[in-house]
Amino acid sequence: MHATPTTPRARLDARRLRWLAAFAALASIAALQACNGGGSSSSFVPVPGAPAAPPASAPPPAPAPDAATADANLQAAWVEVGEGNAAFARVITSYAAPAADTAADANATCPQITVDGKASRMSLRIGAGSMPLRTTASDPADSKPSEFPVSTCEATLPSGAKQVAVGSRSLPLPKAEPQRILVLADTGCRLKKADNAYQPCNDSSVWPFAPLAATAAGFDPDLVLHIGDYHYRENACPADVAGCKDSPWGYGWDTWQADFFRPAAPLLAKAPWVLVRGNHEECARGGQGWYRFLDTRAYADKRSCNDPANDSTGNYAEPYAVSLGGGSQVIVFDSAKAGKAALKTDDPQFIAYQKQFQTVATLAAKPGMSTTIFTNHHPILAFAPVAGATPAPGNLALQSVMNNLYAKAYYPSGVHIALHGHVHDFQALNFATDHPATVVSGNGGDNLDVALPDPLPAGTTPAPGVTIDRITHHNTFGFMLMERKKSPDVGWTFKAYTVAGKLLATCGQTGRALSCDKTGFLTP
Ligand SMILES: [Fe+2]
Repeated sequence: MHATPTTPRARLDARRLRWLAAFAALASIAALQACNGGGSSSSFVPVPGAPAAPPASAPPPAPAPDAATADANLQAAWVEVGEGNAAFARVITSYAAPAADTAADANATCPQITVDGKASRMSLRIGAGSMPLRTTASDPADSKPSEFPVSTCEATLPSGAKQVAVGSRSLPLPKAEPQRILVLADTGCRLKKADNAYQPCNDSSVWPFAPLAATAAGFDPDLVLHIGDYHYRENACPADVAGCKDSPWGYGWDTWQADFFRPAAPLLAKAPWVLVRGNHEECARGGQGWYRFLDTRAYADKRSCNDPANDSTGNYAEPYAVSLGGGSQVIVFDSAKAGKAALKTDDPQFIAYQKQFQTVATLAAKPGMSTTIFTNHHPILAFAPVAGATPAPGNLALQSVMNNLYAKAYYPSGVHIALHGHVHDFQALNFATDHPATVVSGNGGDNLDVALPDPLPAGTTPAPGVTIDRITHHNTFGFMLMERKKSPDVGWTFKAYTVAGKLLATCGQTGRALSCDKTGFLTP
């Protein structure tokens, strides 16, 4: 039975409690509506018969159910790790806050994030907008303005955070010493008129990124490393090609959602990501989406790729290191705009990459590192297969800069192993010369390349002065898992898997050496 309040103070407290209880009930109803998909633009409206507002002297009520945080608005949510291991929560939201709200708070469009029980509003990275047509990699007739009817929000995560959530989603948090790193690249579905290439994006046996991401998530990685080329749907699917019927195309949100965020969702939910930029994310291609959604640095108009006049800024970025703990680090290098030809020393691109490699040397010289992993999109000491011919060497633009800096060593001495994508196969190369073992893992979903010759013609080399000891390769869709060796061993084990999760090869790394359990061409 309820006691009847007797004092004025007690009666006031009881009124407050009744009001708060009624408010909580309404909040539950509104939250349920949001869960059922009705929260996309809902704001809190008191129903007729609701209790009157509390007395003026009462404390402010709990925050109203937050439309900006309703799950129905959240199109994607993930955590990425950038320079110096800074970790960011990112959210893509379709919520559009009322003008009065955004006038009062520029971040009103963004959801609340809860870090270890404390809620705060995420910051707006870049709001929704339509970007006028810019020069693209395609003819103007095959291009269109980039529509982004979504906003990107972000929050820097404190290093000791234990529980982070946005809406009903818990976000994965970085570990100081990740043991299992999932590696993939070149994941999108190719729609490219210039190559008359229209991959059947609607058939997951031919464009298998979605099942691949689901299998990869099942491996419970601590970290994911994507080595570039997220976005491939550049031109419209022709009416007479059934396999890609109705696919979005161009560089706006709908394409990014179909090509990356929707199929990647299980893997984005599983672990934080380290993101490398591919040539498909250079400014004249998917660069606008790269900066809105994925780049780890602050959003800036000059780097946004919206205005081609700024491409010489937007297409290059300083390398940075992410510590993996236990004497390992990964150096992330942006080679998005690297062409195919060797560069002259006075070429602005040569100068830009020279500066980037000088930063790599500084990062790789960090004391105490037993394994420094260099990663960029374009293979440097690996091959590009050519049907019926000797394979093409590594990227000549980057090699020309590296050869100028370090002669035939190519890499500064502190780099132990190199990881790449871009070529759509798996290659693991160990060298007889003193060069970092190299792994290409570009078989993540886009059309595969032809197989390399097996065996390689004698003397075939990815670069002058480089001699191959052993090469292991295959051209089956899949991904790679890096597992840290158990102490006292130092280094990592690299395992190549198929989409279904079948192990194809296991390679142990020590220093600059890589030893695989199989050699030559592998069939699944
Ligand atoms: Fe590529």
